[in-house]
Amino acid sequence: MDKLVIEGGRPLRGTIPISGSKNTALMLMAGAVLADGVTVLENIPHLRDITTFSHVLRIAGASVRFDPETHVMRIDATRIDFPEAPYELVKQMRASFYMLGALLGRCGQARVSLPGGCAWGPRPVNLHLEGLRAFGAEIELDQGYVVARAPGGRLRGGRFRLEPPSVGATVNLLLGAVTARGSSRIENAALEPDVVVFGRALQQMGARIEGLGTRTIEVEGVDALQPVTFRNCPDRIELGTFMIAAAIAGSPGDTIYLTGAEPSHLGEAFLEAFRQTGAAFTFDGDTVAVTVPERLQAVSIETAPYPGFPTDLQAQWTVLLSQAEGAGFVRDTVYPDRFKHVPELMRMGLQARVEGNTVFLEGPQRLQGAHVMSTDLRGSVSLVLAGLVAEGETHVLRVYHLDRGYENLEGKLSAAGIAIRRESYDEFATPTPESAEEN
Ligand code: EPU
Repeated sequence: MDKLVIEGGRPLRGTIPISGSKNTALMLMAGAVLADGVTVLENIPHLRDITTFSHVLRIAGASVRFDPETHVMRIDATRIDFPEAPYELVKQMRASFYMLGALLGRCGQARVSLPGGCAWGPRPVNLHLEGLRAFGAEIELDQGYVVARAPGGRLRGGRFRLEPPSVGATVNLLLGAVTARGSSRIENAALEPDVVVFGRALQQMGARIEGLGTRTIEVEGVDALQPVTFRNCPDRIELGTFMIAAAIAGSPGDTIYLTGAEPSHLGEAFLEAFRQTGAAFTFDGDTVAVTVPERLQAVSIETAPYPGFPTDLQAQWTVLLSQAEGAGFVRDTVYPDRFKHVPELMRMGLQARVEGNTVFLEGPQRLQGAHVMSTDLRGSVSLVLAGLVAEGETHVLRVYHLDRGYENLEGKLSAAGIAIRRESYDEFATPTPESAEEN
């Protein structure tokens, strides 16, 4: 297995490029299943989740070619003849569940493994199932699989209210509705930019959708969608992560540039909280310039669906709070159990208290390098951020979590002045007296 080793205390400086959005790319790939022909997707990040989802598409019969240099993906979905997403792949990545809506929309039937829980707790899919049922799907469970069928080969459309406004369920319902026989309405739909960009791609393919970016999305079903060339948007969570990295690990007074970004996708809550820490930032086209303050001020946050503070940035914000002056908290109302990174940060000396869905801490704190374990994607990157400011070496184990969602993290950070390297290690090696001495 691989780990990242970070020597703390080096200032982050210069320019960091932002990759294409992982979560939007997965939606766009699912959308390509609806089009009989070759869809070309640009600005697709080279990530493990993208590779996993490419396999999911191939199982269904698509041919997927990806060039990691140009970041262009070609999906030939002329032949989709095996409408199934197997457990082995869905368990690696929950977004594979998008195949339910995509295959129902394209083939009128689907057999997709249920995802089960995730690293930080249960993540239900009840809204995906109830919503597709409301649009006419007949759904049964069979040995851990969802077996869905559209009577007569096409969903009829319908009306469904999401509570809460789930990103994934909005996507699955859009995938099902765009080629339904009739019209559909998704109430309390997700407003996340990923969903809006995905909806625009569907429109470009010929889908008739109104209300993207509002709480009510109306869809008029069409007979078929056409393949298109579409450019994916930048990754907003990667941008937020590097803005936090700049604020905590940059030299006071210095400016760090994040290029190829779309800052409006971060939402007002994150930008406002970031501003209140004292870190200055400006936008110029697709570049975000972060100027590092002398001192960071603690700002408490509470996650919420877009345009609220993203749950995917709360672990990183915890590390920011540890470097800021004053007391603060991080509350996650979207995923109340998403705190697996906190005990790992405590191994680095973090003093914090988790109560229910909230972590309380007071800064600034001195962190020490340690061996810490990645537990999930965003939690792992918080350990890397802590490593940037810790004294000594931090070893972040099980880097495969990071490889799911951060393209070339160590390459980008080393180019920005950080001493970081990837090493392989034996997860199950038993320490001997000799190895203990070496360490
Ligand atoms: N929910 C239900 N029932 C459902 C679906 C969701 O109760 O059927 C609840 C969830 O338990 C949660 C809330 O709705 O409390 C929001 O979950 P949502 O469905 O919006 O999340 P998701 O679609 O499964 C996506 C991202 C996550 C991100 C969340 C929230 C992708 C592939 N995943 O997940 O990203 O945390 O939205 O913004 O787009 C990540 O990138 O690290 C990641 C986990």
